[in-house]
Amino acid sequence: MAANIFRDLNEKVNGDYYRLKYHLMPSVGFMNDPNGFIQFNSEYHLFYQFNPLYPKDKLVCWAHVKSLDLVHWSTASPALCPSEWYETHGCYSGCAVNNNGEFTLIYTGNVKDESGKRETYQCIAQSSDGENFVKYKNNPVISNAPTGYTTHFRDPKVWKHDGLWYMAIGAQTEKEEGVVLLYSSEDLLVWNKIGEVAGSNTNRLNYLGYMWECPNLFKLDGKDILLFCPQGVEPNGDLYNNRYQCGYLVGKLDYKSGKLAYGDFIELDRGFEFYAPQVSRDEKGRLLLVGWMGIPEEEDSPTVKNNWLHCLTIVRQLHLENNKIYQNPVEEIKLLRTNETRYDNVVINNEQIKLDNIYGDSFELVCDFSWENVLEFGIKLRCDDGENEKTLLYYNTEEEKIILDRCKSGLSKIGVRKCRIENSKKLSIRLFMDKSSVEIFINKGEETFSSRIYPKEESKNIFFYAQGGMVNVNIKHWII
Ligand code: FRU
Repeated sequence: MAANIFRDLNEKVNGDYYRLKYHLMPSVGFMNDPNGFIQFNSEYHLFYQFNPLYPKDKLVCWAHVKSLDLVHWSTASPALCPSEWYETHGCYSGCAVNNNGEFTLIYTGNVKDESGKRETYQCIAQSSDGENFVKYKNNPVISNAPTGYTTHFRDPKVWKHDGLWYMAIGAQTEKEEGVVLLYSSEDLLVWNKIGEVAGSNTNRLNYLGYMWECPNLFKLDGKDILLFCPQGVEPNGDLYNNRYQCGYLVGKLDYKSGKLAYGDFIELDRGFEFYAPQVSRDEKGRLLLVGWMGIPEEEDSPTVKNNWLHCLTIVRQLHLENNKIYQNPVEEIKLLRTNETRYDNVVINNEQIKLDNIYGDSFELVCDFSWENVLEFGIKLRCDDGENEKTLLYYNTEEEKIILDRCKSGLSKIGVRKCRIENSKKLSIRLFMDKSSVEIFINKGEETFSSRIYPKEESKNIFFYAQGGMVNVNIKHWII
């Protein structure tokens, strides 16, 4: 009986055309935030919020995957599942650190009573083999939020600075303003609150939401950066059009007061689905990021009927240019490339073209465009023969905007996302298509768009076009 249930479930999940080829996704059920991203004794470990019982029930665990190259992952047993009084309603998001050779997870235990009243506990779990994690016997290490804050107090991110541990944690003031708090500790067990790093309650940010989730606080190219997910930010033109946002402040952190002196809030990704990224510095000194290609409370995906939902982004490397984070796929992504096709100096003059061998539903595509005079040019992805179905990515030289349009992409998800890119008479696009996802890197990481799409399996054509003039393009394509 049980064997049949597993077999049927397996068939249902794995028979779904929208399963991805090279992105992390749950074996069954629901995935959300990446957690605990760390390279430990040369091996990369990544965890993620995992509810295997979705959509029937809720059991929030930490799934665990490992990799030597950030692109091929193997699955280990779930690292954390609710078992204690301080986490009855989920082992919520957190991070991993190397504590003098001891692999340590720091996470939020979430508890709710029958009336929905919440309590939150910051907890640790340790492992000596990187496989089996033992919850600390005196958990929690922080009980509930400090005075003046609500129980929306979660997602600890911990790092070491000048011999002390620091923790950035998402919080909400009693006036319902999102903030990030800073704590310090000598041993990961006893924590002292330092103060607020930044928050919606400062004039400087002019109200930026009622809750800030999933903070990362890190140094990048000499600057301190607070990356977080504010909830409750109003759309503003091309900005903040997703249900919840993800962005960052660049500045300098005063470790004594806990305050960050910062510039403007900058949205990190311009696509439809991007949230709760985890940042980690690896043994090569690279600052890596992996995000959730999903948005909380958006579950209208055609995969739900097949008992699974969501995926993560590919792993990206970050750098800073002019106080802006640039994101590019890690070098290792090239390991996935097969069957290179290349076209140099293709001229597209007020027309639409299709090129031999450039098509598919799982590939990497690199296009370097240049022009003198053209109004609009772009790429039509995942087109069926009649172009009833298509996903558009195009640049308008007058508006100076790059536009991703998924109004005709396929099932369920629609809309348009735009962002400004200066018209410098050249534009580079690198994109990764994977069955039901597309990740786009513009101008070597200046902007990214991460999105899910649900086209038909047979929609595999790619067209290039130019209107109101002529473009020249160099194209490379690899099947993945
Ligand atoms: C963000 C989030 C976190 C929380 C986790 C629970 O998506 O709400 O704040 O820890 O998901 O799964």
